[in-house]
Amino acid sequence: MRTPIAIDRRRQRPLHRQIYEEWRRGILAGRFGPGERMPSTRELAAALRVSRATVTAAYEQLVAEGYLEGHRGSGTFVSQELPDRAPGLVATSTVRASSAPARLSAFVERLGPIPLREPSPAGVLDLSAAGPDHDLFPFAAWGRLVRRHLRRIGPGLRRHAEDRAGYEPLREAIASYLRRSRAVRCSADHVVIVSGSQQALDLCARVLVDSGDEVAVEEPGYPGARQLFAAAGARLRPAAVDADGLLVAALPPSSRVAYVTPSHQFPIGVSLSLARRLDLLAWARARRAFIIEDDYDSEFRYVGAPLPALQGLGDQSRVVYVGTLSNAMFPGLRIGYVVLPPALVEPFVRAKWYADRQTAYLEQAALADFIGEGHLEQHVRRMRRVYRARRQALLDALDRCFGSRATVLGDAAGMHLVVRFDVPDIASRARRAGVALRDTRACYLGEAPANEFILRFSDLGGRALGEGVRRLAG
Ligand SMILES: Cc1ncc(COP(=O)(O)O)c(C=O)c1O
Repeated sequence: MRTPIAIDRRRQRPLHRQIYEEWRRGILAGRFGPGERMPSTRELAAALRVSRATVTAAYEQLVAEGYLEGHRGSGTFVSQELPDRAPGLVATSTVRASSAPARLSAFVERLGPIPLREPSPAGVLDLSAAGPDHDLFPFAAWGRLVRRHLRRIGPGLRRHAEDRAGYEPLREAIASYLRRSRAVRCSADHVVIVSGSQQALDLCARVLVDSGDEVAVEEPGYPGARQLFAAAGARLRPAAVDADGLLVAALPPSSRVAYVTPSHQFPIGVSLSLARRLDLLAWARARRAFIIEDDYDSEFRYVGAPLPALQGLGDQSRVVYVGTLSNAMFPGLRIGYVVLPPALVEPFVRAKWYADRQTAYLEQAALADFIGEGHLEQHVRRMRRVYRARRQALLDALDRCFGSRATVLGDAAGMHLVVRFDVPDIASRARRAGVALRDTRACYLGEAPANEFILRFSDLGGRALGEGVRRLAG
């Protein structure tokens, strides 16, 4: 039987719900008319390759809501009296009209879909999505601080309008942390608290980019930033990356903004050389352009001292410095920060105010103490040791199993490795061997090199990393 509906196993939505929604949508849109006979649960289950119970659950829901009716012994049919035609319910024409594709803004069309990230099925070893190891985060200390502020919650924490740039003690704590650990030149007055660095990038696009402007981006680079600039109507100008980071000489002269990841290039992992940092600052000065410095996982460098931020090197009036607690703490915290040239502080605060007023205040208060009492730096120091060992375990496994057929790119830093395999069709080999892998294609505007993958190590133990690589090698 050719099935009139489709389901998508990669979606998180349960299959019975997808089947229910597909029929419901089809009935409301008039694709399936009153009285039309439904396939039997057995037929549909076989056609969609799902269990009969899954189809039965969907049909039962549709019957309960009046979309279908069953005639004992003769099957199931689309109802003669559809629920939206029943008196007292929304008129058919309204439902039909609203189920037609809506005309959306060019902005949202250009954003494109959110990449699918589903939990791997049991037995599959997931080497695809790097993130911090939550099991090692000091949630007890964090919980204590949140409770402390919850107990004290007074008018200061209940309101959010006084500190429009973010909770003032947190801005103080972050400015001091950044001066100490990243050599960023700033005071609390230059810091705006945001809901993760993704919001910082969105605000950058709103404040710095007009439709038709050129924005220079690294090739390859972080797709989450590129999409935002493209959605704002920017013309993206990719500039290549080599072992010394972005090729500053290849930056187009007419760009108004350059988005860069100098400490740990995303995804390749190289750092921008000092000579190029100085060239980049000179490029921005000469064109009165802005550099957006995304200092994403800069806390984690495993050889030598952490590289100071580009922002601290020269003319701060051209650099917007963006950072996040997503890696040093946990991404669900949704707190990041921007350090701005003085002239940009007010426009950023204005854009943030109209976007969402304020980042959650209670967590900002707890975070101010978490940093002030030294928990953040202590945790980062500990995780640096853990991640260094895990990175080494992954490198050892790659060397053991692939030798010269695996080339590791980038510096000893971050939470993932980029590896080029000199092995035909490693993706299908991974699928067969039960290993989830992520290639770098989404990071390129142009064509991506074959067999280039982002391999996670930060939240997997040495044994799992070894097993994953062994399975890949076959
Ligand atoms: C390079 C880079 N910048 C920014 C972000 C956004 O991070 P968050 O919004 O969690 O701070 C990400 C997330 O993956 C990233 O990879």
